[in-house]
Amino acid sequence: MENQSAGRLVLVIFPLQGHTTPMLQLGNVLHSKGFAITIAHTRFNPPNPSNHPHFSFLLLPDTLPYSETSATPSIYDVGNINRDCHAPLQEFLELQKQTADSDQVVGIIYDALMYFAATVADHIKIPRLVLMTSSASFDQTFVTIPRLLAQGSFPFEDSKLHDPVPQLNPLRFKDLPVPKENMVETLQFLDTASKLKSFSAIILNTIDCLEESSLFQLQEHYKVPVFRIGPLSKLAPALSTSFIKEETSCIAWLNDQAAKSVLYVSRGSLAVSDEKELAETFWGLANSGQPFLWVVRPGSVSGSEWTEVLPRDFKEIIGERGLIVKWAPQKEILAHSAVGGFWSHCGWNSTMESLSEGVPMICSPQFLDQKVTARYLTYVWEVGLELDDVLDRQNIERSIRRLMTGREGNEMRQRAIKLKQMINVSILKGGSSFNSLNDLTEFILTENL
Ligand code: UDX
Repeated sequence: MENQSAGRLVLVIFPLQGHTTPMLQLGNVLHSKGFAITIAHTRFNPPNPSNHPHFSFLLLPDTLPYSETSATPSIYDVGNINRDCHAPLQEFLELQKQTADSDQVVGIIYDALMYFAATVADHIKIPRLVLMTSSASFDQTFVTIPRLLAQGSFPFEDSKLHDPVPQLNPLRFKDLPVPKENMVETLQFLDTASKLKSFSAIILNTIDCLEESSLFQLQEHYKVPVFRIGPLSKLAPALSTSFIKEETSCIAWLNDQAAKSVLYVSRGSLAVSDEKELAETFWGLANSGQPFLWVVRPGSVSGSEWTEVLPRDFKEIIGERGLIVKWAPQKEILAHSAVGGFWSHCGWNSTMESLSEGVPMICSPQFLDQKVTARYLTYVWEVGLELDDVLDRQNIERSIRRLMTGREGNEMRQRAIKLKQMINVSILKGGSSFNSLNDLTEFILTENL
C-alpha cells in the first residue's frame, strides 16, 4: 500500500473534528489516485491510525497547556501550534529528501490554520496546497472584510444587523463571521490567517453548482488554481474519523420510524449552549409531536456534564418518540430514509453531508462560518429555515412543524432532493468534482517535473 507510484503527500491536520475529518477524507481520495499519504498531526486529538492502515503518521509534538480532556483548542492557541510544529515537520522533510526517489514528498497539503507548513514547504521547495475546510463563501469574506475595514464599515451598529453588507451579497451584517463582542481579537485572527497567501493552490470541499460566484471571486483574488472537490464525505464514504465513539444503536431505532418523519438534531463538535437553551430545546422537541434523534455532546452544556438539567422523567415524557445520544454516526443517519430534517448549527461538514442526502435543515448557527452558511442555506439554496435568534420552546416547536409537516418544508425538501441529484452528478465521471480531482492530481504531478 505504501509504495504508491505518484510520490508521497504530507497532509497537515488541525486538531478539531470539523478540520480533521475533511483532511482525512481528502487523504483517502488522493491515496486512490496513487499517492502515498503521511498524516502530520498534533499530540492533541490525534487521528486513530488503526482506522487508516494505508496512511503513515507523523507526530508534531505541540506544547500547549490545555487539558487532555478539553476537545477544543482556542483560536489563541493557533499561533502556538504553528510555532511548535514548525521544526519537527521541517526535520522530517529534510530526512525524507534522502530516501528513495519513489518515496519523495511531492507536496504538502495543510489546513488553513496550520499556515506554518507553507513556510516549511517553501524552504524544502515543494508545492504547498491549502485545504480550506469551510465554504468558499466564508473564505470570500476573509478577502472582503479587510476592504470593508479600510472603508470604515466596522464596527457596525445594532440597527444595521439586517442590512445587506456592501460587496458581500447576500450576507447581512448579522451573518458576518465577526462577532461584535470580540471583534478586535477576531480581526487579529483573520489577519493571522491572511499569511495564507503563500500557497500554490487552494482545495475546497465544495461543488461548483453551489458556490460558483464565490469560487470565481476567490480565484480572481488569489490568482492560483482553486480545486473544488466535494462532497468529500461522498468521495470517501466509508471512513471513520470521529474523535468520540459513535452510538450506532440509534440506527435500529431509526429503522422503526416512518419515512421522512424524524428530525435529526446536532450542533456539531464545537458549539455550546447553556442550561436554559437545553431545556427549551427539549420542550420544543417534546411539544412538536415529531420523532427526533438528538445529539447532546458531553460537555456542550455549560454547567452540566450531559443532560442533568432535563426533567427527571424526561424519558417518560418523550417515550419511544425521541432518542438522545452523546455522539451519532451522522452520515449514516442523514442517509437513512426515516430522516426528514436536520436541525443544525450549519458547520460546513454537516451542511455538505445534509445536502448530499437531500435533507432540508433548520438553521441555528452559532459563530464564524456557520452564520455565512446558514444564510446560503436559507436564502440562496432555499433548503433551510432560519430559527429565530431567541431559542424558546414556542419558536422551536413552530419551526419543527414548518419544516417537518408544513407546505414550506415540503418545498424545501423537493429543492434539497434536486440539489442532491446535482451533487451526485458532480462526482460521476465528467462531473465538476470528478474533473477537479483529476486536475488536482495533474497539478501536483506537473509541479514536480
Ligand atoms: C466547525 C465549523 O463550523 C466548520 O464549518 C469548520 O470547517 C470546522 O469547525 P464543527 O462544529 O465541527 O465545525 O461542525 P461540522 O463542520 O459540521 O463538523 C462536524 C462533523 O462531526 C461532521 O462531519 C459530522 O458528521 C460529525 N458528527 C457530528 C458526527 O459524526 N456525529 C455527531 O453526533 C455530530
